[in-house]
Formats: sequence, C-alpha cells, structure tokens
Amino acid sequence: MPPRKKPEDLRSHRWLGVNTLRTFTHLSRLRQGGYDAKDWTDKPVIGIINTWSDLNFCHTHLRARAEDVKRGVWEAGGFPVELPALSLSEPFVKPSTMLYRNLLAMETEELLRSHPIDGAVLLGGCDKTTPGLIMGAISMGVPAIYAPAGPQLRGNWHGQVLGSGTDAWKYWDEKRAGRITDEEWAEIEGGISRSFGTCMVMGTAATMMAISEALGMTLPGASSIPAADSAHPRMCAAAGRRIVDMVWEDLTPKKILTPAAFDNAIRVHMAMGGSTNAIIHVVAMARRAGLPMDMNRFDEISREIPVLANVRPSGSLLMEDFFYAGGLRALMAELKHKLDLSCLTVTGKTVGENIKSAEVYLPDVIRSLNNPVSSAEATAVLTGNLAPRGCVIKPSAAEPRLLRHRGPAIAFEDYNHMAREVERDDLEVTPDHILVLKNGGPKGAPGMPEWGMLPIPKKLVKAGVRDMLRISDARMSGTSYGACILHVAPESFVGGPLAFVQTGDEIEVDVPGRRIHLHVADEELARRRAAWKAPEPRYPRGYGAMYSAHIGQADEGCDFDFLAPLGAIPEPEIH
Ligand code: FES
Repeated sequence: MPPRKKPEDLRSHRWLGVNTLRTFTHLSRLRQGGYDAKDWTDKPVIGIINTWSDLNFCHTHLRARAEDVKRGVWEAGGFPVELPALSLSEPFVKPSTMLYRNLLAMETEELLRSHPIDGAVLLGGCDKTTPGLIMGAISMGVPAIYAPAGPQLRGNWHGQVLGSGTDAWKYWDEKRAGRITDEEWAEIEGGISRSFGTCMVMGTAATMMAISEALGMTLPGASSIPAADSAHPRMCAAAGRRIVDMVWEDLTPKKILTPAAFDNAIRVHMAMGGSTNAIIHVVAMARRAGLPMDMNRFDEISREIPVLANVRPSGSLLMEDFFYAGGLRALMAELKHKLDLSCLTVTGKTVGENIKSAEVYLPDVIRSLNNPVSSAEATAVLTGNLAPRGCVIKPSAAEPRLLRHRGPAIAFEDYNHMAREVERDDLEVTPDHILVLKNGGPKGAPGMPEWGMLPIPKKLVKAGVRDMLRISDARMSGTSYGACILHVAPESFVGGPLAFVQTGDEIEVDVPGRRIHLHVADEELARRRAAWKAPEPRYPRGYGAMYSAHIGQADEGCDFDFLAPLGAIPEPEIH
C-alpha cells in the first residue's frame, strides 16, 4: 500500500481547513452554493475540467458526463467541482484549433493552480483537447485522470457505412467529378455524424484517446467506449471514484509518464495506424514531463510495429467495430510482448495487470502481428535539404507507387493560391507532379492547420487520379489519406528551404531511405535565400501576437517556449 496523505496535506486545506478570515470567505461562499461542512470537511476537492460547449458536438454529452464523474467522486468521499475550459471544437474553430492547444494547456494548468483543487478529472476528446488537457495537468502536477469523450456511432448513407472526414473527402471528389448530386450530398451531410462523440475513424481524436490510455492516464478500456454506449457514463463515474484515491495516494502524472510509458504509447500509436498529428502532441507531452523526445523515436518504433487496427483510413472499419472487437485492451494484449508491462497507470496497477484478461473477439478488426492490416509503417520521418529538421508521411495511407518518386514541383505561395489553381481546367499538371504548399506552418498559416492533404487538381480528379505526392509545412487530419508529406521543419514562413521551392524544380522522395531532396544546386538555393524577404508577423496584437512570438516548430512539439521548461511554480499566496 502506498503511503496515504492526511487531510491537512491536501492543497485545498490551505483554502478550506485553516482558521483565517480568508477561509471564512471561502466557506461562506461554499455555503452560498448550497454546500455544508459535511460536503467538504477533510475531503479531496476534485476539479472536473470540462471542455463541453454548444459548438462542440463531439462533447455534447460531457455536460451529463460531468454529473457521472461527480457521482463517483461523492461515492468515494471527495468533493467534486466542475470548471469549464476552452472547448476547441475541431470543425468550427478557425484558423485551426492547433493555434489554441497551448491556450487550453495554460488554462488547465492555471485553473488547477488558482483554485483549491487536489486532483482532476479531465473531460475531452476532440483532437487538441486531449493533449491540451494532459499537458496542463502534467505541468500543474496534481493527480489527474483523463476521461475520454469516446467515438460517435458509425455514419450511414443508403445502407453504406460512412466514416468521419475520410468519406467527406472521398465523396467531395465524387461531387467535384460530377458523380454525386447536390441532393445526395445533403443526405451524406445528414448521415455522416449520427451521434455525439468524436470522429469515429482513426483520426487525431481516436489516436490521442488511445495514446492517453496507453500512457496509463485513463482507466483501462476507456478510450474505445463509444460515446453513446451506457458503458461510457459508467466509466466516467469510475474515474470519479478512482481520482479520490489517487489524491490520497499522491499518484501524480509524473509518476506515470516515464520514458517506457511513452514508448508504449508510440507502439500503440503505430499498431492503431494513428494520426500523424500525434507526433507533435506526444513530443510536447513528453517534454512537459521532462523527458527527451523527438520525431525520430516514432520512426524507430514504426519499423518494428505494423498496423493491427483495421480502422479507416489505414483499414476499412470504424471505432465502433474496434470496441466490439475488444477495444484498446485487446490490441495491447496482442502487442504485449512489445510493451513494457511494468508501467504504472492511474489504476495504481501496471499495464500488465490492466490487460491481463483482455482478448480479441473479432480477429479481422484487431489483427495479430502475423496478420497485420498493413506492413507499411504508420509513420516515417524523412530528412534532407528540403526538411533539415524533418518531416513526416503516413506510408500506410499512401499509394505505394508514390513512396519512391521523383517529379517536378508545382509551388503554391499560400492556401488561397493553391485553392484557386487546383480548380483550373488548364493547369499543367500530371499525376507525377508534386504539389508544394508554403506558409501552412505554425507561424505562417498561422496555427499549422490541417491543410496538408492538398486537393488533387480537378483536372486529375476527373481523369480518375486519387493520389499524388503533396508536400507542406502544415498538418493533415488523421481522417485524411494520401501521399502527403507534412510538418516540414523549419517552416517556410521563417525561411525554411520550403520557402525557396519554385514550380518546375525537381523533388525526390525516398520513403524507405527516409530521404527528401530538392534537386536545386546549393548556389542557386543560396541566391534564392538571399533574395527572400521575411514576411511580416500575422498578428499585430493579442493572443496571436503572443503565439507567434513564442511558438516552437513542429519537431519541437509546437509548445510555447515559456511553457515547455520544467521548474516548480510556487503555490498561490492566500491573504
Ligand atoms: Fe471532434 Fe473530429 S471533429 S473529433
């Protein structure tokens, strides 16, 4: 049994347990809320950080789920309080939720620090909310459990299963090619998102929820439960019960987040065929935990772990199927010889103990290491004169012929330039061309939006072309697919070599060799660099100006330079 804290050791004791005038204020205000001394005396105060909002339909149920967490906290002898935080609704927040991930991380950290909170249950799921909440909780350092929102139900149209994003891209191309009517398009609009919950393909949301579980930050199995399943509120109540004990045990994120835990998470990411966005978030989370981490760790691990989850876009099914097949516990059991089973988790038990009874029920959905969905790696990190600090591609989601390719570039200066050109019927483009988008990076876009799956030019779509090489310093949705090279670092906006690519330049990509090369002589590149003028910052004031001044590049996890460093921050004075 780990040593347990005493009530006077709780952080909240400084607000609620001492005899001062300030304590009178705190307690009289709790009474104003209808609480009585029995509700709070000698109890851990549990902050439920809730990213619910009226414009985030992935989190519609989190308002009700907060009540389930509270039920669990009360049952276990804690005092629950709900604190709303930035919701980061992926479809609605522009230019990109990535612009605000660090703001959510800051908000989470400071909500926990400034209030009398002893432990936290983090409610999120839509893409950036998972890393944002966990990064904040790591930096604050109180015990925390992540309760993932869970995926939505399968989409449906005319009896066909629809997957979030993935099928939107697919049918949009059909519509551009004139094979889908406006009426059919409206039907797809109504059928693709049938319930609350996150995107139900292996997008960034499903990937990051799985990674959180593999790290040991969720209850076992939590990340695969569909949002609309009755197991979901039960999981939330159980998280509420467990966090109270975690406070008494002082089981903080740093005790869970070890190098071995991150390796487990990256192995699971590969086996899930996870989103490339996870690379940025995992680097940022690991560095918050004080651990060295860079993109190359993903590349190393991708060579040993094939894709086992038969979920789109690398596979053919959806997260609901994955849950019925046994969920993440079953996938981790399949991988058990590759994982460090001794890692500690929020349960207070090890990964090995948590997955002991797990089994795969549907072997076509969760494949074995001998029968993977794809032997192509889920992630490859390339370097070369076009990306000196690296860039990434998801080979398992690309047409194999493009993994070794040399072709002429068509360079676009920004998104609007690209969007105009790809619609031109007279664009001089062949399937062997390589589309290059500049100014889609952390500072350039700004916020590194998911622009990296550049549309195939209309002329080629009509001719039946569905994949071609595309390169950018932007990201790509995990629901996307294709031969898209992303996260080019350093980005073009700060003078990375991508800024100097011109239409007609030859580019060579060799994914097996992990190389990307711009075939332009060094002297010519130097001449172009000398003629290049750094663009003006995008924001004259406000959060955007702060973001631009402090944001790191993709290979660094895009954290703020003032948030990433370690160092104890004093507890707030209470006077
Ligand atoms: Fe929220 Fe995809 S839009 S998870």
